[in-house]
Amino acid sequence: MSAPPPPALPPEAPAPAPKPKVALSLIRATGRTHLGNYLGATRSFAQLSAREDVRCYFGVATLHSLTTLSDPRALKRDIRGVVVDFIAAGVDPERAVIFDQTAIPETLQLSWLLSCLTTAGRLERMHHWKEKKDKLAELGQAANVGLFTYPILMAADILGPAADLVPVGEDQLQHVEFARDLALRFNHLYGDYFRVPTFLEREAVRVPGLSASGKMGKSEGDKATLYLGDSYEAQWKKIKVAPTDPARVRLQDAGHPDRCNIGGIHKVLTHLGLHEEGGMEWVTDGCTQAKWGCAVCKKRALDVMEEGFLREIRERRAAVEARGDGYIDEVIREGNERARARIQPVVLGAMERAGLITRWV
Ligand code: TYM
Repeated sequence: MSAPPPPALPPEAPAPAPKPKVALSLIRATGRTHLGNYLGATRSFAQLSAREDVRCYFGVATLHSLTTLSDPRALKRDIRGVVVDFIAAGVDPERAVIFDQTAIPETLQLSWLLSCLTTAGRLERMHHWKEKKDKLAELGQAANVGLFTYPILMAADILGPAADLVPVGEDQLQHVEFARDLALRFNHLYGDYFRVPTFLEREAVRVPGLSASGKMGKSEGDKATLYLGDSYEAQWKKIKVAPTDPARVRLQDAGHPDRCNIGGIHKVLTHLGLHEEGGMEWVTDGCTQAKWGCAVCKKRALDVMEEGFLREIRERRAAVEARGDGYIDEVIREGNERARARIQPVVLGAMERAGLITRWV
């Protein structure tokens, strides 16, 4: 007699779905968004919001905006403007949580906890603080304490929702590093609690300004900044007159082909896979062998951007603006609720860990 067949194995339990990652980033409401904000940050926001394995929280850093702004009317206007920019960049408000930092009071509670784990010396060494303080000193003004503790509030933004991924431009990497250190410090003191965030899963970029100095940004002035909301014609007018004579522009890296700032933009486009035909080789070759004039190079950079994303951004902006402020307010209201529901328990848990009593019953 043959042996009875072995008992059937129980059906295999389906593998648990991997936990979605949490991405978080904020943008200050300090005016119109520019190419640096897009290539450094909101482009990644859009890509992350399309992913099934990532839950996104993108906010307006209204409290951080107060460190450099004192015009209440402008701030109120620009809050909605940032949200329009998110959506124009391709963030899907149905998938991503879009919120206002001010609507999450727990972030300030966490900021206090974290400030008690930070030395003044550490803050004094932050590049952002040193730069801002020196710039203000040149104008004969003193820096406020909000600017000094800026990185602590930013760390609270990041740790509050237990973010895994923090998409930011290169200028913000030191702040994200600081948030990581604070998570480790807290965990060391009070037991493993906070997730230690990582950066975005690719290298952060720094978009140079169109004129002689530094990175593109509001503080570099209007001439150096390519605004996303402008028409193609306005953008071309600005790029066309941007200085490219290597004798006049500050060399970013002496001897490097990236010696004019447009070259720097080509380089970023190539880095992000937006530039066809190898990008920088085209620029280097054309430039060093005088095959192309600067105007050709500039036009090419603008056209790559126009085809790659600028036109689409303008179209999405027009569509979202046509829906009116009521729609934007609704997106923010709903986002505030969802963000708070995520952040509040994490912060209360951290406070309990630190020995505070959050519920007296
Ligand atoms: P803000 O408003 O200064 O900048 C917003 C985002 O744009 C990026 N960015 C650039 N990237 C590349 N090249 C440039 N020229 C350029 N200019 C701006 C910035 O790196 C940033 O990602 N402190 C943050 C706001 C913030 C935040 C946070 C970010 C508050 N809390 C928590 C992440 C997580 C800031 O720089 O905003």
